[in-house]
Amino acid sequence: MNADISYLNNLRLQTDVIHCGDAARILRTLPDECVDLIVTSPPYADSRKHTYGGIHPDQYVEWFLPIGAELKRVLKPTGSFVLNIKERVVNGERHTYVLELIIALRKQGWLWTEEYCWHKKNCYPGKWPNRFRDSWERCIHFTRQKHFKMFQDTVMVPTGDWAQSRLKRLSKTDLQRDESKVESGFGKNISNWVGRDMAYPTNVLNMATECSNRGHSATFPVALPEWFIKLFTEHGDVVLDPFMGSGTTAVAAQHLGRKYIGSEVLEEYCRLAEERLGIAGKQLRLLQETKKYENA
Ligand SMILES: C[S@@+](CC[C@H](N)C(=O)[O-])C[C@H]1O[C@@H](n2cnc3c(N)ncnc32)[C@H](O)[C@@H]1O
Repeated sequence: MNADISYLNNLRLQTDVIHCGDAARILRTLPDECVDLIVTSPPYADSRKHTYGGIHPDQYVEWFLPIGAELKRVLKPTGSFVLNIKERVVNGERHTYVLELIIALRKQGWLWTEEYCWHKKNCYPGKWPNRFRDSWERCIHFTRQKHFKMFQDTVMVPTGDWAQSRLKRLSKTDLQRDESKVESGFGKNISNWVGRDMAYPTNVLNMATECSNRGHSATFPVALPEWFIKLFTEHGDVVLDPFMGSGTTAVAAQHLGRKYIGSEVLEEYCRLAEERLGIAGKQLRLLQETKKYENA
């Protein structure tokens, strides 16, 4: 009996690991406030039913909320939760489950701090009777509190050609902080950018989708979690992806010297993730131990 309890404690403290199993169950084994950043792309409602299942759009919020509660429990107060998701089309119109989920997560105590738009810049053209090719997805940024860790300088981009012409002749307004006329709370001081090589990015992330899909039909590019990991964590911090798929978030965390924790329900994707991370032997041992724990 004691041996089983000590195994559970070990499991709780483990990082740089992928748990093969249901996210809701695995999250319950993690201690409170042990994670600095969650980046995840859960199964989209009813999509890819034939590969890894799907949740009916009408049941999506109900399905996600217990997971949201666990994510809030395991995230440190200064941490961030980035949810990559997109509403699907049902009966010719966009379903509202993502919007309903945002409202429900706010009621659960999350702050809807920001929304980033992932623009898939390599999408090919397409046309349907009532729409064009979908080439963007939401990356919704939730936090537990207003003050959270954010390292904006880590994601700066070259200032770009606009600066040469725009900053050549500055107007009177350009030389001072110009507050928004519609009281949006946003303002700008154009003269701040004179002589600078680097600028802050916008909340639109132009990143190509993963074309060589590495044995998984819905991977996001490594650049996507990398961007958020740089922005919201420091070296040695812990990054969690409860719907790990082929392990992209963990690969990004590993590249950047962060620790990772992942879960994935399908064993074939766990194997794929292990291969990408170079932890095949380690993961095999963990799977055996997990089975021991499940049978206890
Ligand atoms: C959109 S994919 C994530 C892909 C991932 N971002 C990548 O780059 O490979 C969602 C993943 O969640 C997994 N999944 C679905 N239900 C799950 C559950 N209850 N617990 C853990 N993983 C689950 C699916 O098998 C699928 O691999």
